[in-house]
Amino acid sequence: MNVLWIFAHPEPRSLGGSLRDEGLRTLRAQGADVRESDLYAMKWKAVVDADDFGRAASTERLIVGSTSKDAFRTGELGEDIRAEHEKLAWADTVIFQFPLWWYGMPAILKGWFDRVFVKGFAYGVQRPDGRTARYGEGALAGKRAMVVLTAGAPEATIGPRGVNGEIGDLLFPLQHGTLWYAGMSVLPPLTICGADRVSPEQYEAAAESLRERLRTLSTQDPIPFRRQNGGDYDDALVLRDELAPGRSGIGVHLAG
Ligand SMILES: Cc1cc2nc3c(=O)[nH]c(=O)nc-3n(C[C@H](O)[C@H](O)[C@H](O)COP(=O)(O)O)c2cc1C
Repeated sequence: MNVLWIFAHPEPRSLGGSLRDEGLRTLRAQGADVRESDLYAMKWKAVVDADDFGRAASTERLIVGSTSKDAFRTGELGEDIRAEHEKLAWADTVIFQFPLWWYGMPAILKGWFDRVFVKGFAYGVQRPDGRTARYGEGALAGKRAMVVLTAGAPEATIGPRGVNGEIGDLLFPLQHGTLWYAGMSVLPPLTICGADRVSPEQYEAAAESLRERLRTLSTQDPIPFRRQNGGDYDDALVLRDELAPGRSGIGVHLAG
C-alpha cells in the first residue's frame, strides 16, 4: 500500500500533530510505504496567483478561462505542484488530515486543492462516449481517500439534529465535490470531536480509533456516492425522479 498523508496544521505539537505521528507510525508498522505533505512545514503557497497563470513567463495576453486549466497540458506548472502530482500518482491511498476551521478545511489545504487539482491531472477527462468522466470516475479513479478531522465541537452537536449539522454535510464540498468528483473512492471520515480539551484517556481512545481505521484502510467500504454516469442522473445531471422520491438535499446523492 502506498499512502500519501496530507497534513494541514501549523503546530506539530498539537493534538493533530500527535495523531499524525501516530498515524504514520501505525502505517509504517503495518508495512505500508508512506510519504507526507506537511503543508505548513513545506511553506505551501496557498493562493493561486499570477505566477500560476504563467504571466511572469509570457507577455502574451491571457484569455480568462484558458489559463490554469491548460497549464498541465502545456507543462507550465510550478515545481511545487508537479512534486505533489508525482506523489499523488504514486499513492493508492491518500489521507487528508486537518482541524475543522469555520466548518471547513484550513485555507492552506484549500489552496493545495486549488493549485494541485488542475485540469488534465484531477479532472477534465473525456470518456470514449463523449461524456465527461467525473463523480466516481476520472483521472484519480482507483485511489482511496480518507479525511481525518479534529473538531472543537462536542460529539452530540455534530449529528442529525446537532447544531453543527451532520459530518457528511459539512464535508460534502470536499468528499463529494472534490475527491469523488475527481474519481477517488472516499472512505467514511474519522472525526475526533471535543478536540480542544482532551484527557490522556480521551487521547488514547482517539489514537486507537485512528489505528483501527488505518489497519482496515484497504477493506473498508467507501461512502456510497452515486456515479454521475451510472444511470441515476438525467442528461442535465439531475437525480431521476424515481430515486429518493420527494427528497432533496445532500443526502439524495448517496445510493440506498
Ligand atoms: C480558526 C478556527 C476555526 C475553528 N472552527 C471550528 C468549527 O467550525 N467547528 C468546530 O467544531 N471547531 C472549530 N475550531 C476548533 C478546532 O477544530 C479545534 O481547536 C482543533 O480541531 C483542535 O485540534 P488541535 O489542538 O490539533 O488544533 C476552530 C478553531 C480555529 C482556530
